[in-house]
Amino acid sequence: MSNTAKSILITGAGSGIGRATADYIASQGFHVYAGARNAGDLQDLSKNKNITPVELDVTSTKDVSEVKKIIEQKQTGLFGLINNAGIIKAGPLMDVSIEELRAQFEVNVFGVHQITQALFPLLLPAKGRIVMMSSDSGFFATPFVGPYCSSKFALEGYSDSLRREITPYGVKVILIEPGRIQTPIWDKGEQILKNEKYSQSLFWKEAKAMGEYAIQKGRTSGLPPLAVAKTVYHILTAADPKLRYIVAENKLEYQLMKILPASYVDKIVIKKIQEVTRLAARKGR
Ligand SMILES: NC(=O)c1ccc[n+]([C@@H]2O[C@H](COP(=O)([O-])OP(=O)(O)OC[C@H]3O[C@@H](n4cnc5c(N)ncnc54)[C@H](OP(=O)(O)O)[C@@H]3O)[C@@H](O)[C@H]2O)c1
Repeated sequence: MSNTAKSILITGAGSGIGRATADYIASQGFHVYAGARNAGDLQDLSKNKNITPVELDVTSTKDVSEVKKIIEQKQTGLFGLINNAGIIKAGPLMDVSIEELRAQFEVNVFGVHQITQALFPLLLPAKGRIVMMSSDSGFFATPFVGPYCSSKFALEGYSDSLRREITPYGVKVILIEPGRIQTPIWDKGEQILKNEKYSQSLFWKEAKAMGEYAIQKGRTSGLPPLAVAKTVYHILTAADPKLRYIVAENKLEYQLMKILPASYVDKIVIKKIQEVTRLAARKGR
């Protein structure tokens, strides 16, 4: 089947990685159903003739079933589902409320489950591909970003189980683990810090310093979202894609993190927190 004949759904296509992926995949001849939540994004996406914008909040059962109906009515079939939509919740875990943690999982894990389960019957006859937008936070747990890291670790476990269940039926499950990518996610992280929600926390000094450090790094040294979009394209077109793709400048560092003993990684991370906090204090932040 040529790319032109294949349809793909991307969630969270209104901005960042999702938008870049929708544009890039569409430019390569795929027909893209691009899920977004706000009218402006849907309007923008509609300018591309290979894109069908669909209103989609992955936590909404109604939206999910509407999207399934649209795809069925258009009779395009579905070759790919790119589970990209995601949010970030951060803060010292001993201060993060159960509601915040639930809200984090609602999108990054339960939303993924809801849409994947609903669209699986369309992916099955196509022997299609499910791409999960995990993160380096899906295998390396950064302190003070506990809710987000927990959700991405859960997504990794979910994907491994799913892959082992459905691979014999011809549907592939592939994880992407991006490092820092320059997208609006960093502005959203900055907003969390600016709200100073955790300013009374025992851990505020460290959490704030580490948050500022991560945001600055993300904005200045992140890869462009097109790097992830191209990886998605490879996954959709390669005869035999790998199970996981790290998309980052410093891949080797990440690969090391995966194999070093956790006690050793803990020492490096704790040292880093102390260094970054000291530096922030010196700068008078
Ligand atoms: N940027 C990075 O450095 C990085 C690194 C690793 C992994 N990732 C992952 O990459 C994915 C995309 O993030 P991004 O960096 O491109 O950030 P982003 O620009 O903030 O994109 C996230 C997208 O998800 C959408 N979204 C949020 N809640 C949703 C919901 N309930 N239903 C449907 N869509 C929803 C957002 O829509 P609204 O605009 O309507 O809120 C937005 O379009 C996320 O899963 C993220 O965890 C990013």
